[in-house]
Amino acid sequence: MGKHFFKQTIRDVDVERETVLVRVDYNVPMNDDGTIADDLRIRASLPTIRYLLESQCRLVLISHMGRPEGRDASLSLAPVAARLAELLGQSVKFIDDCVGDKVRQTVRHSPCGSVILLENLRYYPEEEADDMNFAKSIVKSTGAAFFVQDGFGAAHRAHASTHAITMCLPSFAGLLLEKEYTMITRSMDQPSRPLVAVIGGAKISDKIDLIRRLIDRADKVLIGGAMANTFLQFKGYNVGKSVWEPGQEEVLRDIYAKASGKVGEGSVDDFIVLPSDVAVGANTSDKDQPRREVSVDRIAEDEMALDIGSESIERFSSIIKQAGTVIWNGPVGYSTIESFSFGSARTALAIASNQSAVSIVGGGDTADFVLKWDGGDGESFTHVSTGGGASMELMSGQKLPGVESLLDAYGPGVLH
Ligand code: ADP
Ligand code: 3PG
Ligand code: MG
Repeated sequence: MGKHFFKQTIRDVDVERETVLVRVDYNVPMNDDGTIADDLRIRASLPTIRYLLESQCRLVLISHMGRPEGRDASLSLAPVAARLAELLGQSVKFIDDCVGDKVRQTVRHSPCGSVILLENLRYYPEEEADDMNFAKSIVKSTGAAFFVQDGFGAAHRAHASTHAITMCLPSFAGLLLEKEYTMITRSMDQPSRPLVAVIGGAKISDKIDLIRRLIDRADKVLIGGAMANTFLQFKGYNVGKSVWEPGQEEVLRDIYAKASGKVGEGSVDDFIVLPSDVAVGANTSDKDQPRREVSVDRIAEDEMALDIGSESIERFSSIIKQAGTVIWNGPVGYSTIESFSFGSARTALAIASNQSAVSIVGGGDTADFVLKWDGGDGESFTHVSTGGGASMELMSGQKLPGVESLLDAYGPGVLH
């Protein structure tokens, strides 16, 4: 894996008995009762933590949670410390601040081999402002000698803990960051073909760079979700009360022009594959609605297309069956209502059943969906990304500040 990555990793540095500052992304979804709804991001940080602990260093973990304005007890990282301790099988000290005297005293008095988690970095506005003095105070308070970036989910942000801090300490990639980066860029840059992309979710405008890049690189682009409604509307279908995104005509004209240039006008609809039928409902609030399917030219004025229909599911599945690589970003239906989750469930099944394909799942809602579908671990897929925005930006070909700012790898055989 290493030769595809262009940054130094924790394998390149000796941290024995040092204090190491590790940026993780513990921005985990929480239930209303304050418990953790999904701990994928905590579990995904374990390999780096365990690897570093073998060197008997002192680990100080930093993360953000949510988007607080100042101190907000509902966005404290305290519950994460408890869950991490359970998963690691050792105690994790939680400090209710990320800078200052309490941090200094606790870290200094912690023996080698201890793990400390600091409070939500975003309690301080300086974090998102990429403030160098804030980064320096974190370094001074912790007394860290090295910085490790393992918070892939936050690597698309240029914040104090992903960017400024790399100017204060020698900075290395953690194992999760390396794995995410390598899996995602390899699937886009050197895919086993055919490369099939399944794109769904809500808005074209959120995913326009990704769609453009996929038009360029993929062999088939399957469109589902509310995104498909916007495509269908553009093609002249009446989508009734469906969620679709106005103002995208120019973007869509450009997408179709690019696609025609690539595969020829006559083959465009076999390249950008839209649903031919949909499951319709009355609204997105009634959880007990029945599922009723219609052809895409039969959506009534008062109906919403909330999932792809059976014929489309079969077509998507047979294309996925032939794939060498599948990239999936965005549920193909309103998957939080059970009767409209079939399309996404069958997409997951088709991907999981194609044992010879490399499968990469990105996007917060898509990852949530496949983890539930898979009973929690996502092992039916080659890689379920822990990053929402970060995975999409990386798939779109953008550079991530949190990766770019780390020390470059050296030596022969390193690809740039
Ligand atoms: P991800 O987080 O995986 O990138 P998105 O945030 O783009 O995915 O998409 C998820 C959203 O899309 C969800 O809120 C989902 O309910 C919505 N969605 C998907 N299909 C439909 C549809 N047919 N109608 C309305 N909303 C939809
Ligand atoms: C995420 O959940 O996508 C990351 O933790 C980044 O969070 P943000 O979008 O609030 O910067
Ligand atoms: Mg989402």
